[in-house]
Amino acid sequence: MYSDVFCKVYDEFGWNYYPEVFGQELLAWMDRQQIRPRSAMDLACGTGVLCRILQGYGIRVSGMDLSGGMIQIARAHGTEISYAVADMITFRPEGQYDLVTCTGDALNHIPALSDVEQIFRNVYDYTAPGGYFVFDLLNEREVSTSEPFEMEHTDGQRIWFQMTRPGADRVALTIRVYEGERLLFEEVIRETIHEPTAVREALQRSGFRVVSFDDHLPGAEGHGTTWFVVAKKEDV
Ligand SMILES: C[S@@+](CC[C@H](N)C(=O)[O-])C[C@H]1O[C@@H](n2cnc3c(N)ncnc32)[C@H](O)[C@@H]1O
Repeated sequence: MYSDVFCKVYDEFGWNYYPEVFGQELLAWMDRQQIRPRSAMDLACGTGVLCRILQGYGIRVSGMDLSGGMIQIARAHGTEISYAVADMITFRPEGQYDLVTCTGDALNHIPALSDVEQIFRNVYDYTAPGGYFVFDLLNEREVSTSEPFEMEHTDGQRIWFQMTRPGADRVALTIRVYEGERLLFEEVIRETIHEPTAVREALQRSGFRVVSFDDHLPGAEGHGTTWFVVAKKEDV
């Protein structure tokens, strides 16, 4: 669970960059494919960056996240988008969406692949026939132990951040808040790297057709790292 401290500095860290880039690539892909969703659900929407991009494209957007702090920040940007605080493992909204998204390695926050598969089954049910589920996943090549970095926060507080690899399929993001040399707060966010073949099979078992599973959205430039997955619920 993301603490309030982490939620408040999430965009300050510059992590809004990823959904912004992804959002532009997603819009470009939809334009190329002439996909015109009328409704979208962004799972684990965080501060709502992708929701706002999709809404700006004329889509009726909903977002959800486990963290009340993230949703509070998302809601502060305006009231046109409806948000919910929920766990995507059990989340089953009423109605269906033409597009469901889940980005920013949110699915890597789910340790058990069986729970990821449960999310896929749920998403399949609330994706409209002919609709798409687009998400990203950490690629094990992309995550290595980083040098810690620091940034000034408010009132002389410093934020310290480091990413480490405590195991072959594990990633840990540690965030600390210091006042002078005094540690005020520490939080560790743990992520799991899921094996791409297993994810692909779980998607197929859930009913989806895998359109693309690559280091880029179809037609976009390769990133060399993150997996971008496009899955389709076929028309019946
Ligand atoms: C790295 S952030 C990405 C946020 C946003 N998608 C973005 O790209 O900026 C991961 C998000 O996943 C959310 N999250 C983690 N586990 C979740 C769960 N079980 N259900 C819903 N959201 C979850 C966290 O609260 C956090 O906001």
